[in-house]
Amino acid sequence: MTKIAVYLTGSIAAYKGIEVVRGLQKMGHTVRVGMTDAACQLISPATLFALTKEPVLTDLWDEHATPIPHIELADWADLAVVVPATANIIAKMATGLADDAVSTTLLATAAPKIVVPAMNNHMWMAPATQRNLKQLEEDGVTVMTPATGRLAEGYDGKGRLPAPDDICQFVAAQLNKHQQLAGKRVVVTAGGTREDIDPVRFIGNRSSGKMGIAIAKAAAQAGATVTLVVGQVSVPLPSSPAITIRSVTSTEDLLATLTDEFSQADVLVMAAAVADYRPVSPATKKIKKQADDPHLTIHLTETPDVLKTVAQHKRADQLVVGFAAETNDLLKNADHKLATKNADLIVANSVAGVNGAFGSTTNEVTILEKAHLPVKWARMSKDRVASKLIELIRTKLKQGD
Ligand code: CTP
Repeated sequence: MTKIAVYLTGSIAAYKGIEVVRGLQKMGHTVRVGMTDAACQLISPATLFALTKEPVLTDLWDEHATPIPHIELADWADLAVVVPATANIIAKMATGLADDAVSTTLLATAAPKIVVPAMNNHMWMAPATQRNLKQLEEDGVTVMTPATGRLAEGYDGKGRLPAPDDICQFVAAQLNKHQQLAGKRVVVTAGGTREDIDPVRFIGNRSSGKMGIAIAKAAAQAGATVTLVVGQVSVPLPSSPAITIRSVTSTEDLLATLTDEFSQADVLVMAAAVADYRPVSPATKKIKKQADDPHLTIHLTETPDVLKTVAQHKRADQLVVGFAAETNDLLKNADHKLATKNADLIVANSVAGVNGAFGSTTNEVTILEKAHLPVKWARMSKDRVASKLIELIRTKLKQGD
């Protein structure tokens, strides 16, 4: 069963958080608790300690706790649930503030997060709160909408904490969703390939690897066993027991690695930016400047189309997702790739100009699928694109069952 960290913050509904902890335990989950100072004003950490039989994290500086208590809890949890979540903790999460035990642990955890807000209706409707909630959703946090009803202030409004049973059911549904790729093997390619010109120079591209890495992480969070095949990237690689990393340099390397991996995969996602040409014969020594000729000609030859080659052997039970990086005629070009590469889905994105996908933390993609109209997704963080894509892949795999 799942290891769930429950964070209680200082809403008057904190006492209902106790019922949520009990409910999750009854479902068979292991629960540990973190509390803000304000939550400790409303209910006692001793109650949660007695119920969970685990130390309750309230202080970053507790000398009797483990040496780095917030990181220990952050790493332990498979899921983080903030219930009740005040406007304050939502604002901290949205901006990445880490000034107490709970906000610091939430910033440090890689676990999926569920936030269950509870507050006065005016605070709920405040533009700042709505902006922060939108940011949380963009960051891939799941927000449960509060109930409308009698508030602690004595009047009706939106902002009431839903019933503990409903919260537990919501958490169960999310967990289910998070485990939808359990038992599946997903291969994701990320970053750019490089082709040697000589021992010190290469032909490369501007791919940062962010999109592919986000997809690998989202697949692992959904319970899949992931192989991340990476070329050149400019961001840190994930470290997760569910993700095996295989590094490649050239397009030929990538083809060889995928030929090896593909038959055992249920899903292949080709997010890598692959060099289409390589020097015919890379120089074995550094190419020197020529005193009498300001020009240098490098003869290039086409590399294999990895996606097309690998996807030729696609079985009916396998799903292949390609990307299309375009600077112009996005839909026309992406549609051609869908028709010619034997992919089930093409994720088309623009790589032109300042709003282009290369290096950016956000992406605006259009999903193409045979016999379907293209579906444009709003601009969102690459993490959010990744989790939506994994959700789509899950639906497609289910349809194929
Ligand atoms: N791709 C591949 N092998 C190549 C080139 C691209 O497997 N030699 C894959 C990419 O990983 C991506 C898809 O094919 O999933 C489309 O890549 P893209 O660079 O957009 O297009 P190309 O096929 O290279 O075509 P063009 O450069 O003409 O747009």
